[in-house]
Amino acid sequence: MIEIRDLEKIYPNSTTALTKINLTIEKGEFVYVVGESGAGKTTLLKILHGEECSTTGYIKYLGKDIRNIPSHTLKRKISFSYQDFMLIEDRTVFENITLPLQFIGESLRSLASKSFTILEAMKLKDKMYKLVKELSGGEKQRISIARAIIANPEVILLDEPFGNLDKETAGKMMPYIEALNEKGTTIIMATHHMLEENSTPKRIIKLKKGRIINKEYV
Ligand SMILES: Nc1ncnc2c1ncn2[C@@H]1O[C@H](COP(=O)(O)OP(=O)(O)O)[C@@H](O)[C@H]1O
Ligand SMILES: [Mg+2]
Repeated sequence: MIEIRDLEKIYPNSTTALTKINLTIEKGEFVYVVGESGAGKTTLLKILHGEECSTTGYIKYLGKDIRNIPSHTLKRKISFSYQDFMLIEDRTVFENITLPLQFIGESLRSLASKSFTILEAMKLKDKMYKLVKELSGGEKQRISIARAIIANPEVILLDEPFGNLDKETAGKMMPYIEALNEKGTTIIMATHHMLEENSTPKRIIKLKKGRIINKEYV
């Protein structure tokens, strides 16, 4: 489904963030991307999402070079929950999470019903009409995950999704993400907080200084 070949990223300030990344991800896989801070995890996800361009190499999505897929099409198929949330602070939770659906012309009733379902799963349904700036870091993080999930993408990229959550809250989110994966959604999760309780098998890609140093399964 995703084919990454000889990918290299050198930022304009000459920082090399990724070197010779080769990786194939099949539909329905659950992949952890792990590594210390600065290893290149976020850069890899941003290139997959079309936000950054690779310096050399390419990524194919379903056989097509992602540079040849229009950005709005790619972003509908591959969604991203950002490490730093990227939410609109002075808008409500409802407005933020339904943003990906407004572009495809969904009715208000359908938007409200989908939001309610997802916020209930995230234990945040009482926050639906609150402004994002009134929420805690952990709540914002779950809203960012909800926004990535709501439009039913084929691939979900999660960048440190549990970074601001206590273990208990993270433990409640994981089964929900695993359930999406079981239904066929491909999940790629950058993390350095790997949860010990994994109910489904996952693949681990270990990055160090921009290189893949290990590929294994847990
Ligand atoms: N926009 C940028 N401009 C220049 N260097 C960057 C930029 N973003 C990240 N880097 C650098 O690229 C490397 C990888 O960063 P990043 O992908 O954020 O790693 P991680 O997510 O694993 O912490 C680091 O050395 C970081 O400082
Ligand atoms: Mg990062």
